[in-house]
This record gives sequence, structure tokens and C-alpha cells, in this order.
Amino acid sequence: MALNSLSLVQALLFLSLATSAFSTRPYKEGLTPYFYDYVCPQALPAIKRVVEAAVQQERRMGASLLRLHFHDCFVNGCDASILLDPTPTIDSEKLAVPNNNSARGFEVIDQIKAEVDKACGYSLVSCADILAVAARDSVVALGGPSWEVQLGRRDSTTASRTTANSDIPAPNMDLPALINTFQKQGLDTRDLVALSGAHTIGFAQCFTFRNRTYNDDNIATSFARSLRSLCPRTGEDGNLAGLDPSPAQFDALYFHNLLAQKGLLHSDQALYSGGSTDELVKTYSDDAEAFWDDFAKSMIKMGNIKPLIGNQGQIRSNCRRLN
Ligand code: HEM
Ligand SMILES: *[C@@H]1O[C@H](CO)[C@@H](O)[C@H](O)[C@H]1NC(C)=O
Ligand SMILES: *[C@@H]1O[C@H](CO)[C@@H](O)[C@H](O)[C@H]1NC(C)=O
Repeated sequence: MALNSLSLVQALLFLSLATSAFSTRPYKEGLTPYFYDYVCPQALPAIKRVVEAAVQQERRMGASLLRLHFHDCFVNGCDASILLDPTPTIDSEKLAVPNNNSARGFEVIDQIKAEVDKACGYSLVSCADILAVAARDSVVALGGPSWEVQLGRRDSTTASRTTANSDIPAPNMDLPALINTFQKQGLDTRDLVALSGAHTIGFAQCFTFRNRTYNDDNIATSFARSLRSLCPRTGEDGNLAGLDPSPAQFDALYFHNLLAQKGLLHSDQALYSGGSTDELVKTYSDDAEAFWDDFAKSMIKMGNIKPLIGNQGQIRSNCRRLN
């Protein structure tokens, strides 16, 4: 009897501990990696399948999907606001300067949403979570680090072109301005350097690096010369250059390149131009592990920017418009 009541007390104690672990731990940060584990274990594998197929078809798509998550999170939090198409009441972020004719991958997100809804049987997974998971799966598909994605974000019912224009960093920025735009999101200088390492994959259009090519003095002569032939003073605005020498591989060459004054964007080279971030760039340039570890940590931090949770926002059934 005494034994029984003791074990009953233990059982109750265990239960209450377990319940509180399940109910409080996830909400400490608002998000949890296990959000869909019981309700739809097929969700994450479905996202991964579509990302892998898209990256296999075009390696650059991995870069484009990673950038979508970044441009989403920097504008009123990671809430899929970037995915909303223009309507009379939606001030679409797709038309903001950093996104217009530049952000890409929207069709892949549509395809993921369709597949994941089919796998779960209904519209369960938010577009904001899809962006976060697709970013991780893209990095992995291009040979980079993996991390546990925090989940449970909900989708916005608004968008802001104005905020996209003011809060997404621009390629002509110097280090203090870059530090500011990250600080505004609760991200520090280490996050800035680590996350800029995303430019180890993907491409930039001529109009984003033209001024650097012709007017900067912290650029290697041979590198500037070859860029000028790709990107004349006028025209050819859409010509593409790799953001680093291996734009389909998630390696540490981006940082190695900065040491040689071969950063493509003015904002890239600003991280290694005599300022406070020089040492960290040097560290990452010959320690890919350190870069990978910090990149994963900073991606989780970026993914935690102002998520909508609980009953805020909605789970869009079409990522491009409100329910
Ligand atoms: C630090 C400030 C940053 C600036 C000023 C910046 C700016 C740019 C610009 C101008 C482009 C080229 C766009 C085009 O030509 O259409 C680009 C591409 C890209 N950015 Fe950034 N970026 C920054 C940080 C980041 C961060 C934090 C990430 C992700 C974590 C990121 C991921 C990418 C990727 C993957 C591409 C290539 C996209 C593609 O090939 O489609 N960038 N960025
Ligand atoms: C976006 O790009 C299109 C196509 O180049 C252009 O016609 C339009 O004016 C741009 N929109 C904005 C708001 O800049
Ligand atoms: C172009 O580059 C020069 C030299 O770095 C700089 O002074 C100028 O402000 C830049 N112009 C723009 C529009 O970014």
C-alpha cells in the first residue's frame, strides 16, 4: 500500500514534470523543433524532398531559397510576409528594391506547400516554417552544415514594402550601416559576419556590384578587371557573377576571398577592410568548422526574429495570399 501510493506519487510527479517539460520548454522561445512531430511526421521529409529535387535541377535554387528566408525574417519577423502577392490591400514586399527582379524561388515554395499539405492531409504547416526548413535543407543540399529548425511560426496577414526597403541591408553599405541593420533585428556583429557567409553560395547581378567594380579601391586589380568586362558601365544589368568562386558549394571560400580583396559586393568586402570584423573573417577563412558552427547558430537566431505564435496570424493555404 505504502509502496503503491509512493509509486503513484512518483508517477504523478513524473507526469507533471513531463507535461511541464512538453508545455513550457517549447514556448520559452515561442518555437520548438518538435512542433509537427506528432501531428504530421511526414511534413519535414516532404519539404526536404522538394528542395532536393529543385536543387538537383538548378543548384542556384538552394541559394535563392536561403535568401528568401533572410528577406522574410528582416521585415517584421519570420512570418512569410515576403510571399504575399500584390493586391489593393497588400503592399507586396516582392516589389521592394531588394526583391524586385531579384528574389526568386517562389514557385518552389508553392510546390512545397502543395506537397506538404498533401502529405499532412490539410493545410497544417505555415508558409513561414516552410521558408525556415527550406533554407536549412538548401544549405545541406549544397554541402553545408545542418541544424534543428525551430517551428511553430504562423503567417502574417500583412506585408510592408516600405519596411522591406528600409530594413533589408543594401550592397553599398559600409560596416557601421551593416552592423546597424543587424542590430535592429537583435543580431550582433558575429551574426552579421557568420550570416554574410551565406554568400558562399549563389549569384549577384551586375547592377549590385557595378559601383564597387569601377569606384572602390579595396578591390584586387585583376578581379576588378574581369568584373568590368562582365559588367560594363551601362547595360547588362542582369549579368551574373558568383558571390564566391564556388557558388554551388557551401564552403569557406567566401571568407578566404575577402582576405584577397575579392569580395563581390561592397558590403562583403566591408567585413574585411580594416574594421572590427577583420579578425573573425580571418578565423572563418581557415576554419570552415568554426564558420559552420556559427552559421548554424546564427540561422536559428535569425529564424527566431518576431515569430507569430499561438493564435496570431493564420496558416495560409496559399502562401501568396490571405485565407
Ligand atoms: C549583410 C548584408 C547583406 C547584403 C547587403 C546582401 C545583399 C545581397 C545582394 C545584393 C545579392 C544579389 C542579389 C541580386 O543580384 O539579385 C545577394 C544575394 C544573396 N544573398 Fe545576400 N546580402 C546580405 C546578407 C545575406 C544574408 C544574411 C543571407 C542569408 C543568410 C544572404 C543570402 C544571399 C544568397 C544565398 C544570395 C544569392 C541568391 C541567388 O543566387 O539567388 N545574404 N545578397
Ligand atoms: C519592378 O520591376 C519591374 C520589371 O522590371 C518594373 O517594371 C517595375 O517598375 C519595378 N517595380 C518597382 C516598384 O520598382
Ligand atoms: C560608389 O563607390 C564610391 C567609392 O567607394 C562611393 O564613394 C560612392 O558612395 C558609391 N556610390 C553609390 C551610389 O553607392
